[in-house]
Amino acid sequence: MNKKRSGASVMLGLLGMIKSLLFPMFLAILMGSLGHLAAIFITVLGGEGLIYVLQGENGKTLPYMIAGLMIFAVFRGILRYAEQACNHYIAFRLLARIRSKVFAALSRLAPAKLDQTEKGNLISILTSDVELLEVFYAHTISPIAIAVITSVFMSFYIGRSSWILGALAMMFYLIVGVLIPYINGRSGREQGMIYRDNFGKLNTTVLDNLYGLDEILQYHQSEERLKQMAKKSEELEKISLSLKKKENWQRIATDITILSAGLAMTLVSSYLYSRGRIEFRDAILAIIAMMSSFGPTAALSALSNNLNQTLASGDRVLDLLEEEPIVEDILEGKEYRQGDISFDGVSFSYPEKEKEILSGFSKVFEKNKIYGIFGKSGCGKSTLLKLIQRYYEPSKGLIKIQDSSVNKIKTEELRKHITYMTQETFLFQDTIENNIKIAKLNATREEVEAAAKKASLHDFVSSLPKGYDTPLSELGDSVSGGERQRIGIARAFLRGSNVLLLDEPTSNLDSLNEGIILRSLWKERKNKSILLVSHRKSTMSMAKEMITME
Ligand SMILES: Nc1ncnc2c1ncn2[C@@H]1O[C@H](COP(=O)(O)OP(=O)(O)OP(=O)(O)O)[C@@H](O)[C@H]1O
Ligand SMILES: [Mg+2]
Repeated sequence: MNKKRSGASVMLGLLGMIKSLLFPMFLAILMGSLGHLAAIFITVLGGEGLIYVLQGENGKTLPYMIAGLMIFAVFRGILRYAEQACNHYIAFRLLARIRSKVFAALSRLAPAKLDQTEKGNLISILTSDVELLEVFYAHTISPIAIAVITSVFMSFYIGRSSWILGALAMMFYLIVGVLIPYINGRSGREQGMIYRDNFGKLNTTVLDNLYGLDEILQYHQSEERLKQMAKKSEELEKISLSLKKKENWQRIATDITILSAGLAMTLVSSYLYSRGRIEFRDAILAIIAMMSSFGPTAALSALSNNLNQTLASGDRVLDLLEEEPIVEDILEGKEYRQGDISFDGVSFSYPEKEKEILSGFSKVFEKNKIYGIFGKSGCGKSTLLKLIQRYYEPSKGLIKIQDSSVNKIKTEELRKHITYMTQETFLFQDTIENNIKIAKLNATREEVEAAAKKASLHDFVSSLPKGYDTPLSELGDSVSGGERQRIGIARAFLRGSNVLLLDEPTSNLDSLNEGIILRSLWKERKNKSILLVSHRKSTMSMAKEMITME
């Protein structure tokens, strides 16, 4: 995440994703170049017509010229449309592809990544950063190619009568299309980056405040929080303002250069005409062609304002795509076999953290037994459960299941056979039934109900007017802590795995409900290895053994 790419390498990285779309891209460039040339030659042809009239030459060519003008005008419209259609086709095909790539990257990096990152920042990568790349694919790549093609063509056209005029035109195209965007881009790049980063941070703060609304009100923090948000928005605004200022300077510099180009062309061509080196007609046409042909290069110059942000977004997306997972999934490994889970001298600390959570921890959790894990808050109970599933790798020692190190078992298999009920059950915006069914998508209603009964959830759900079809609201505020937990337990029962890692499954429940759930677990214990983390001794009564962690 820390290395910085140059603008060019971000562009190359982004272009690397477009290989299969080269043909529509080629079409977009072709249409765009022809379209711009048609627009330029409407003016040039008009000027030429005027010269014919002024010089009183025969009127026969004039109707042809008018017809030519009309054809150019119609073509201009059609070509422009075709160019945009191609560009948007490419951009949207690509956005869909990038989104799925980003999600694939996230699932490769999960769960460790999601354990650690600011969620708001990830959200802005997934939404606005990816969205901004549309600008790159639809409005950056082909304009560059089009500007190059039209500028070279026009330099040759203007240089037909004298190479000096051609070289002069080329020089001005380079100033507008390369020099100004380069200077502008360089000075705004840093700020573009900061803008995108701060935008992500603001997202995090907004999300935080939204989820923490209850606490904010409870502790009378609304004013303080509002101030913080206002400050962050102000900072963002400041950067945005300074970027806008740069944009103005870029516009002014471009306009002045274009006017100077007209002036220079007038002076030089007048001089060449006075020396008899070119004809009057060529001098006028060179001036008209120069003045009417800055469209593509000026567009390139304006592009450099957004380019900073586009590149910053691209950089963040590429960062995520290229990020190495903390733990690589084992794709080719042993099959999972049910057995004892053993820790052999395991030491572990979180990446970039000094504190050692486990040091030389050894323990055998025998197959098909229930174990209670007890210990003060922060001692590493949840970490222990995560290590079994290989969310992280220990720095020392081995964790084995049925004598195979978890580092050798196919990771997907491993996690498929283990059900982990986390301390916080996440509820989706969906019905209760579907929330339970995420543990087993093809479960029947009967299976869902049976699981809910074991989790002491059925009576509650039956009391709701829509029963299992009741939708849960987004923040889950309408669901009590205990109900949420029981949905989590119902999921675990529905999944039916042979290994159950339950992280404080009943901490929010009264003893009646807890009793029902513990009895269900007791009934199901055959062929199941259960690790039960709890702060309460009552929960542990059925455990074969209780391990106290330091
Ligand atoms: N992703 C993480 N990155 C860095 N440190 C972490 C991470 N997750 C947990 N920790 C730290 O590791 C220590 C152990 O955390 P863990 O969640 O395993 O504790 P616990 O025993 O489950 O506590 P509790 O009873 O409160 O749930 C804590 O000090 C915690 O702050
Ligand atoms: Mg915990």
